[in-house]
Amino acid sequence: MKQAERTAGLTKIARTVASCTGCTLSNCRTSTVAGDGNPLASIMIIGEAPGRQEDESGLPFVGMAGKYLDKLLAIAGLTRADVFITNVVKCRPPDNRKPEREEMAACADFLKQQIAIIQPKLIICLGGTSANAVLGIKQLVNEHGKLIQRDGRYYFVAYHPAARFHRKMIAEDFEKLSLELAKLPELRRMDIV
Ligand code: URA
Repeated sequence: MKQAERTAGLTKIARTVASCTGCTLSNCRTSTVAGDGNPLASIMIIGEAPGRQEDESGLPFVGMAGKYLDKLLAIAGLTRADVFITNVVKCRPPDNRKPEREEMAACADFLKQQIAIIQPKLIICLGGTSANAVLGIKQLVNEHGKLIQRDGRYYFVAYHPAARFHRKMIAEDFEKLSLELAKLPELRRMDIV
C-alpha cells in the first residue's frame, strides 16, 4: 500500500475513533488517541491505553511513560520516526485503571485495521494488557525480552514503560531488542512504496 493510501486509511480510522461511543470510556474522554507515527514504519508499538496527558493532547505516549519510551527506543537504536505507536484502547480509562474486557473488545477492530494498513514486520507489545490483547499472553514473566515469530510476523513483548517497579528489566528488554534488530536488520527496513 502506498504512503498516501496508508495515511488516508489511518486518518479514516482516527475519524471513526473520534466519534466512537462503543463503550463507556467515550463518556469521560477529552480526546481520543487513535495513534501516531510513520505510516510506512515496519515496526508498530502497542501500549495499553492513553493516560492523562495523552487524553489532553490526543497523541500516544507524550506523558512520563512517553519520555521514558523515547529513551528505550534509543537503547534499541530507534526513534519515533521509525515506528507507528498506538494502544489497545483509544480512550483514557478513569484514573488510568486497566481497560476492561468490554472496552478492549469495543476497540479491537480499530487495532486490527491499523495493523492491516501498516503491515508491520515487528509488533512490540508494551505491558501485559497489550501482550494479552495481541498474543493472548497471560503472564509476562516468561515471555518478555524475546522475539516471538507467529503468523509470518515478529513480535517482541516488553514490560510497560510506566511500570517503575520493573525499570531495570524494561531497559534490559530493549537491550535484547537491540541485539535482535542487529541480527535481523530487515525488521527495521521500510519498504519503498
Ligand atoms: N501508556 C500507554 O500505554 N499508552 C499511552 O499512550 C500512554 C501511556
